[in-house]
Order: sequence, then structure tokens, then C-alpha cells
Amino acid sequence: MVENSSIYYCYPVFRPPSEGNSLLIQLTEGCTYHCDFCVSNLRKDFKVRNLEDVKKDLDVANRKYGSHVRKIFFLDGNAMVTPTEKLLEITKYAMNKFPNAQRVGVYAHAKDILKKSGKQLKDLSDAGLKIAYVGFESGDDNLLKQIGKNATKEDYINATRKLMDAKITLSATFINGLGGANNQNLSNNHAIKSADLVNKICPSDDRLWYISFLSLMIPQGTVLYEKKRNHKFIEMSAIDILKELRTFIENINFPNKEANCVFRSNHASNYLPIKGILEKDKKEILEILNYGISHKDMLRSESYRGL
Ligand SMILES: C[S@@+](CC[C@H](N)C(=O)[O-])C[C@H]1O[C@@H](n2cnc3c(N)ncnc32)[C@H](O)[C@@H]1O
Ligand code: SF4
Repeated sequence: MVENSSIYYCYPVFRPPSEGNSLLIQLTEGCTYHCDFCVSNLRKDFKVRNLEDVKKDLDVANRKYGSHVRKIFFLDGNAMVTPTEKLLEITKYAMNKFPNAQRVGVYAHAKDILKKSGKQLKDLSDAGLKIAYVGFESGDDNLLKQIGKNATKEDYINATRKLMDAKITLSATFINGLGGANNQNLSNNHAIKSADLVNKICPSDDRLWYISFLSLMIPQGTVLYEKKRNHKFIEMSAIDILKELRTFIENINFPNKEANCVFRSNHASNYLPIKGILEKDKKEILEILNYGISHKDMLRSESYRGL
């Protein structure tokens, strides 16, 4: 009998930068949401794959990479939407197959988290699902509505609480430049309300949690691409994007000064790579931002930006 030696992928696949060395396993295809800026569900009809097929991929991966696998990431855009029984079964299967694996990770829309009970999330966490990458994008409800996110600031606060109670690490992403260039007010609100959201979800202990900012890209095929083509959306300049991020950082004021919030703005879409711990490194982060704002030539050029 000839054993299948390839792992199935439905391209293009996206994974968080921090899952770069992880075993990627296609659990779902596409995404059940339709955000204006995102390509995750273009050219893909959403489905949860047959678990027997996913298990076969894990078996193949085990033969290829075995004990080298430290982290597993279940693709695609919102694998957390997978019905809990299935997600639990496949998480347990994966963690059993790879005894050296420390965790399973998934992308999750806030509503996927809210639809699961505290007990379901705790069961998933106990089985090995230890990190969820959640696209917050903004803390401003008006902007969230404008981009078709189908979530509110309150959803993010509640979803974070549920994740943290279940001991699933939160990694939340925001997008700079989402409001566009023709509304300075929207940019200010985006920055200030996003900071307020992050202040509000700050845990009272010293656990690690992650906040990242990407800078808006406008890929072909998205609703935003059409808006830009029709001059209904004008992109913000690199400098204005950095100023927006500066306003966000200035407004960070955690109730718990011992918090361990890993802040990153060092994705390929960003103009200036920044990382640090909030709130501890606030002053240094602001210095880097001010330097970038006054040294345009230091910024990543448009042709080197990507998703
Ligand atoms: C593949 S999505 C998965 C997140 C998850 N489905 C959710 O929405 O909560 C990962 C993140 O990449 C970022 N992203 C996607 N498209 C982007 C774009 N065009 N420009 C900048 N960031 C983008 C967003 O922050 C998004 O939440
Ligand atoms: S940002 Fe997340 S929820 Fe929105 S379409 Fe992309 S993958 Fe789906």
C-alpha cells in the first residue's frame, strides 16, 4: 500500500507571523465573515473539513516531522468557528500525535469565541488549544461597522474575558489607517478608542498577552479595493499612520502596571518595526515613533510592504 505523503492545503493560506515555524494544518477553508479589507474568503467556499481527512494530514506530518513539531496552527481564517466537539477531537488528536507540541493555535473572530460556553473553551484549553489570534481591528464601533467587521468593542471585551478565564492566550490585531485619509476625526477616534479597549481588557495578573498593529493593505478583490478605485476611500500617508499609532500608545494607561502585554508593530505591512512591552516600554516606543515621524527616509518603502 502506498501511503499519501502530502499534506493538503487550500491556497492561499494565511498564518500569524509568530506561527512561522508551526505545523500548519488545514482544518477549515475560507472564513464565515466578510470584512471589507480581507482576502481570506475570496475564491474559497467556507467549509469545515472532514475530520478523518484532517487526521490523515496529521499522520503524514507525524511521519515527516515527528518530534520536531513544537506548535500546531489550524488554518483557515476563523478555525475557532468549528463546532466544539470537532475542534476538541482534532485538538486532542493533534496533541497526542505530537508529544513535543506545546500548543495548538487558531484564528478566531470574537463572535466565534462568544458562541462557545466558558466550559467549552476550558475543555479546548485543557486539550491544548492555548492561543487565539483575534482580529479586533479597532475599538471604535463606528469604524468597525464601516468595515463590515460584525463585532463591537463590547464583544471584544467579553470575548477576551472568556478567553482569559479559560487560560487561552489572547493575541489581538489592530489595523492602522483603517479610517482613510479624509477624516482626521475618525483616525483620532480609532486610536483613542482602541487604546481604551486595550486598557479595559488588561488582566490583573502578569500573564503574557499580545497586541499587534498592522498597517492597512488594500488587496485586489476586496470591497475596500473597489472603494479606493471609486475614490470613496483614500489611503492615509505613512506619516499619518505613525501619528495614529502614536496617539494609541499615548493613550495606553493600564490599571495593572505589572501587566505583560507584548506589543508588536513589526509586520511586513508596517512602515517602522517596533516591539516592546506595554506599559513598561511606552516611553521608548514613543521615541521610536517620533524618530520615524521626523525621518521619512527611514520608513519601509511601499514596494517592500506586504501581508
Ligand atoms: C486572517 S485574519 C484572521 C482574524 C480573525 N478571522 C478575525 O477576524 O478575528 C488576521 C488579521 O490580519 C489582519 N489583516 C487582514 N487583512 C488585512 C489588510 N488588508 N491590511 C492589514 N491587515 C489585515 C487583520 O487584523 C486580521 O484580523
Ligand atoms: S478579518 Fe477575519 S473575520 Fe474578517 S474576513 Fe478576514 S479572516 Fe474573516
